[in-house]
Amino acid sequence: MNKTLQVRELEAEFHTPRGVVRALHGVSFEVQDNEIVGIVGESGSGKSTVVRSITKLLMPPGKVSAGNIDFSGRSLLDLPEREMRRIRGKEIGFIAQNPFSALNPVTRIEKQFAHIAKAHGVKVDASERSRALQLLESTGVRDPERVMRGYAHELSGGMAQRVVIAMALYLNPQLVIADEPTTALDLTVQRQVLDTLRRLTVGSGRSMLIVTHDLGVVASYCNRVLVMYRGNIVEQGLVDDVFVRPQHPYTISLLNSVVRPEDEMQYVPESAGGPDSAEPETPDPSEAQLSEARRS
Ligand SMILES: Nc1ncnc2c1ncn2[C@@H]1O[C@H](COP(=O)(O)OP(=O)(O)OP(=O)(O)O)[C@@H](O)[C@H]1O
Ligand SMILES: [Mg+2]
Repeated sequence: MNKTLQVRELEAEFHTPRGVVRALHGVSFEVQDNEIVGIVGESGSGKSTVVRSITKLLMPPGKVSAGNIDFSGRSLLDLPEREMRRIRGKEIGFIAQNPFSALNPVTRIEKQFAHIAKAHGVKVDASERSRALQLLESTGVRDPERVMRGYAHELSGGMAQRVVIAMALYLNPQLVIADEPTTALDLTVQRQVLDTLRRLTVGSGRSMLIVTHDLGVVASYCNRVLVMYRGNIVEQGLVDDVFVRPQHPYTISLLNSVVRPEDEMQYVPESAGGPDSAEPETPDPSEAQLSEARRS
């Protein structure tokens, strides 16, 4: 199998007034053609820093301090920004964690699609426009014509996320990198969007690197998983192996933190004010949280 992306010994740091924060400590992994790789890990473990380093969108005070990133035979860290702009959008589609950061507030959405096409020498004709409409529709936008004519500030968070996903897929990039692409979406739309992402990437020989905090998403959509902890990949492998036989204590605790439908409910004894002492009118907060977790 060919490697679309190969990251070797990547190090990144943030230069803050209080000193240098080392955010990545020698991160290495690969994304092969035709596969979806998930990145999981607690908040602050370095997931966004990894994907921003690959797309060269890591902004000051952050910078890559060492390592190598090979994408389809090119060393990305050596490329000038002009070259990188050609790759972003056309060969690597990026879905940022905050969708509004990727949208221009003063330009209509349809113009933004046209700009992406023009920047990469793609002729903007009726068929390109209808492809954008189709993509919007497949990410769950109900009235794509109206969204195309509107501005970013008219969109809800979930709607903006769908628009950014459609833009990232617009030019059929070889690799889609998505940083928590479905967090602002409700559950049914999440599935729809992830199915679309899968169909338009691995379904047509492309690859995807997806950051998510949702282990269910990894289990359902990813071939391989990278587990990050404090700037390191502490474990990586096939999802079936890592989820069934986790080796690292952090992965074990991450998997144990998932509430499973088969988990038994724990009742508080009557003497401690349990369920038989009085019928509560509103659900116990812990029970409400538990059912919420089970629904998700
Ligand atoms: N602008 C910044 N200035 C200083 N340090 C930063 C900055 N952005 C990130 N960091 C540091 O880099 C580390 C990794 O941050 P990063 O945003 O990559 O984490 P993450 O895994 O994406 O977290 P989350 O799940 O919350 O999105 C953080 O712990 C923080 O110490
Ligand atoms: Mg992040």
